Amino acid sequence: MRASTRLACVLVGVCTARVQAFDYVIVGGGTAGLVVANRLTKDPLVSVMVLEAGGDGLGNTNISDVTLIGAAWGTQVDWQFPTEPLLHDGNRSSGTAPRGKVLGGSSAINGDVFDYGDAREYDEWLTLGNTGWNAQSIIAAGKKAEHFYAPKPSDDIDFTLTAHGLSGNIATSYNSAAPPIHDDVISSVVNAGGLRSADNAGGNVDGISHATNARLPLNSTRATAATGYYFPYSYRKNFQVTLNVVATKILWSSIASGSAVASGVEYVDEYGATHTISAKTVVLSAGAWGSPPILERSGVGNATFLKSLGIKSVVDLPGVGENLQEQTIAPMLWSLNASLPLNVITPFLLNMESLQKTLGSGNLATLESLLNVQPPSLSDALYNAHKSLYSKSVPWIEGYVSVSTPASGPSVLAWYPVNLHPLSRGSVHIVSTNGTAYPKIQYNFFDSPFDTYVLAAAVQRVQSIVSTPPLSGWIASPISPPAGVTSIQDLKAFVLENVATASHIMGTALMAPLKDGGVVDANLKVYGTKNVYVIDASVVPIEPAAHLQATVYALAGRAAELLS
Ligand SMILES: Cc1cc2nc3c(=O)[nH]c(=O)nc-3n(C[C@H](O)[C@H](O)[C@H](O)COP(=O)(O)OP(=O)(O)OC[C@H]3O[C@@H](n4cnc5c(N)ncnc54)[C@H](O)[C@@H]3O)c2cc1C
Ligand SMILES: *[C@@H]1O[C@H](CO)[C@@H](O)[C@H](O)[C@H]1NC(C)=O
Ligand SMILES: *[C@@H]1O[C@H](CO)[C@@H](O)[C@H](O)[C@H]1NC(C)=O
Ligand SMILES: *[C@@H]1O[C@H](CO)[C@@H](O)[C@H](O)[C@H]1NC(C)=O
Ligand SMILES: *[C@@H]1O[C@H](CO)[C@@H](O)[C@H](O)[C@H]1NC(C)=O
Ligand SMILES: *[C@@H]1O[C@H](CO)[C@@H](O)[C@H](O)[C@H]1NC(C)=O
Ligand SMILES: *[C@@H]1O[C@H](CO)[C@@H](O)[C@H](O)[C@H]1NC(C)=O
Repeated sequence: MRASTRLACVLVGVCTARVQAFDYVIVGGGTAGLVVANRLTKDPLVSVMVLEAGGDGLGNTNISDVTLIGAAWGTQVDWQFPTEPLLHDGNRSSGTAPRGKVLGGSSAINGDVFDYGDAREYDEWLTLGNTGWNAQSIIAAGKKAEHFYAPKPSDDIDFTLTAHGLSGNIATSYNSAAPPIHDDVISSVVNAGGLRSADNAGGNVDGISHATNARLPLNSTRATAATGYYFPYSYRKNFQVTLNVVATKILWSSIASGSAVASGVEYVDEYGATHTISAKTVVLSAGAWGSPPILERSGVGNATFLKSLGIKSVVDLPGVGENLQEQTIAPMLWSLNASLPLNVITPFLLNMESLQKTLGSGNLATLESLLNVQPPSLSDALYNAHKSLYSKSVPWIEGYVSVSTPASGPSVLAWYPVNLHPLSRGSVHIVSTNGTAYPKIQYNFFDSPFDTYVLAAAVQRVQSIVSTPPLSGWIASPISPPAGVTSIQDLKAFVLENVATASHIMGTALMAPLKDGGVVDANLKVYGTKNVYVIDASVVPIEPAAHLQATVYALAGRAAELLS
């Protein structure tokens, strides 16, 4: 802390013993926050302080070794967010949800897949009124983050070199240990009428292909925002990080209507002591469940709701904490005819299809009638965006495939079909003014019957792929759903009982025009403020048909350019 105080004196010219002043304070040293901090501190005259709730994670092999994916969940580097019972799902518990609480944020504990969305989805960001955000600018920013290591010819993996970035900070590569069954998965998708894609990167996600992972080739070391954007740059004197502190709220120097001015941030250290830090600009990068609560505690949010908690309104912004989007999964399992020589999760393959393709003519009419019902939680603008994606036959279904082998007995094939563009929207809101209490998270899955139907139909589609040769030859018996559960009606019940989450939460501080429930403008500045920004997954308006981190790296890189 002393070093940073001295630094602030030199750079900013504020030299009192206890006040620390920076050009930027960034709340959250996660996926987006460290990209922004890295880009800003390229200029040695710009001083940045990152406040991170977790530690540095160094030496924790649950983070660095990707063969241990999942081990970090439920440990001290995971926030373990409690979530509310699922309203439309028999009120069943959805338990706690993992989020990275460590330098690198969720990039340090995630499933490690690195993939881009479709150009048609990114173009929809612009159609929503977000000037400058489209397929061209977002994919270019993603490639700037990526350092792609091509597979060896002997790995026999198709790829398109030009679809990848070759000199960014995040290593991407393929797991070269793919077992032969993966080739049969691809063949069965094609034999069942699906598309084969050489590479889903580059803006066209139609078809099945091998997915890249955020890891160094050969030794399976994970690439995180911390390994890519902080550790190699920690020598920069203007790039300061304070660990194990929780930011609680924004401090204001003026709350003049229409342009509130932030003066810094209040935070609590690991001993419970409260501190403040001064900055010319405040950037919230605390994630889709972290950033909205900070805004609310600072008086930025639905004024009626904040009043009920005794919080004085600074900006009446009803979109804060609304629009929670999360992709839902219906896990499927089969036992295989043999015990394959594997004991780790093998690389994912992605199977992406439009609903038109997934459903064939039979179920399509029902689906379209459900699509024509706008769920109450979805704004007109976002509803129209989804209908537009549907009419353009944008892939709506994805599947991750893996094989695991227990200590004894046959191997198990897992296939996780995902509804990539759910219509239902949930929310995250504070429950009190307590700065370190968990917020209330309601996923609100299946608020739209369209979503239940999509997932049931996706399970049915995968059942038909798996019963197509050559993959069918490997199957001993279905485990889940059990044999005989094949009708849409039965599969809807299966989906409700078994729904899992993709951990791709987004949209809770939406980038959109104010009239459409937006929280930030196209520069990611919070409406009604002069110098407060949200830069993380909270602002993503439309889900990519992909995992989320590549999109978050892209948006953070582009946002940093807009800031500086
Ligand atoms: C279990 C899991 C699996 C996933 N799998 C994949 C995958 O395979 N591929 C993929 O592309 N994406 C995956 N994702 C999603 C992806 O990792 C996230 O979308 C992305 O990392 C989010 O970035 P972010 O910057 O918005 O938030 P984060 O990276 O979560 O960063 C938020 C940071 O803010 C800190 N913070 C929060 N509140 C405070 C506070 N009040 N004060 C100080 N610090 C605070 C947190 O500790 C954290 O470091 C997965 C996510 C999870 C959790
Ligand atoms: C790694 O994960 C395991 C399993 O979850 C856990 O028991 C162990 O404590 C973790 N290690 C660290 C350093 O957190
Ligand atoms: C759901 O559960 C909550 C508490 O867990 C309870 O208050 C509520 O009444 C339940 N709702 C229904 C419809 O069962
Ligand atoms: C993995 O390889 C990279 C570079 O190729 C190296 O920097 C890193 O230390 C290696 N990690 C381990 C655990 O061997
Ligand atoms: C604002 O909050 C109040 C009280 O919780 C709620 O009734 C109202 O619907 C909210 N307004 C919007 C636009 O979400
Ligand atoms: C605030 O919340 C934290 C975490 O739940 C809790 O430990 C603490 O006691 C709460 N503080 C107050 C003043 O209620
Ligand atoms: C399992 O099925 C595959 C694919 O049909 C076949 O090649 C293999 O020989 C079978 N293994 C056993 C042990 O039956």
